[in-house]
Amino acid sequence: MKSIAKLPKPKVSERMKIFVDHGIDQLPYWDFCCDHGYIGIHALKSERFSEVHFVDQIPHIIERLQALFAQSDKVKPEYKYFFHIAAGEDLITKVEGNCLIAGVGGTTIKVILETLSQKDLLHAKRLLLSPHLDEHILNPFMESFNDRYKLMEKIEIPEGKRVRPLYIYDRT
Ligand SMILES: C[S@@+](CC[C@H](N)C(=O)[O-])C[C@H]1O[C@@H](n2cnc3c(N)ncnc32)[C@H](O)[C@@H]1O
Repeated sequence: MKSIAKLPKPKVSERMKIFVDHGIDQLPYWDFCCDHGYIGIHALKSERFSEVHFVDQIPHIIERLQALFAQSDKVKPEYKYFFHIAAGEDLITKVEGNCLIAGVGGTTIKVILETLSQKDLLHAKRLLLSPHLDEHILNPFMESFNDRYKLMEKIEIPEGKRVRPLYIYDRT
């Protein structure tokens, strides 16, 4: 008998929980550079957000997630979720609500935010940014962006032997 695939039981680390815990309820949640999709899946299962968007530039990553969702018996009919095979900066959809970009370098985060902003697609109320390198590139850029987004909090998240930053910016 063919078994029904389960949505991957996300290996939700403390880091990922913190990303979701700090989202604003009832708004969309965008998981940029989603890779395994664990963060977005955790956000979806929390049922706190109006919809969840998964974005990754690698087609097979998103296709794998699409296949898992299509086969899973754990996806409730009321869940609203969207998949985007695109580099974040190439999106053509308005980004609203919560915008998480985690696990990539500060340069990538800067390119995504700068390009979406130039295209007038960046309308997120909250940015949750967790660069894994190049903070010295991201931070001056975010300072130049402070007429639009204000730094509310920086959280230091221990992960193994490392400490990962989470910068939370809210729209002014
Ligand atoms: C290390 S994983 C991060 C996974 C997850 N966000 C996390 O923090 O655990 C990096 C992912 O970012 C994706 N990526 C890198 N640059 C990107 C871009 N400009 N737009 C969309 N996805 C990108 C890669 O394809 C890869 O799947």
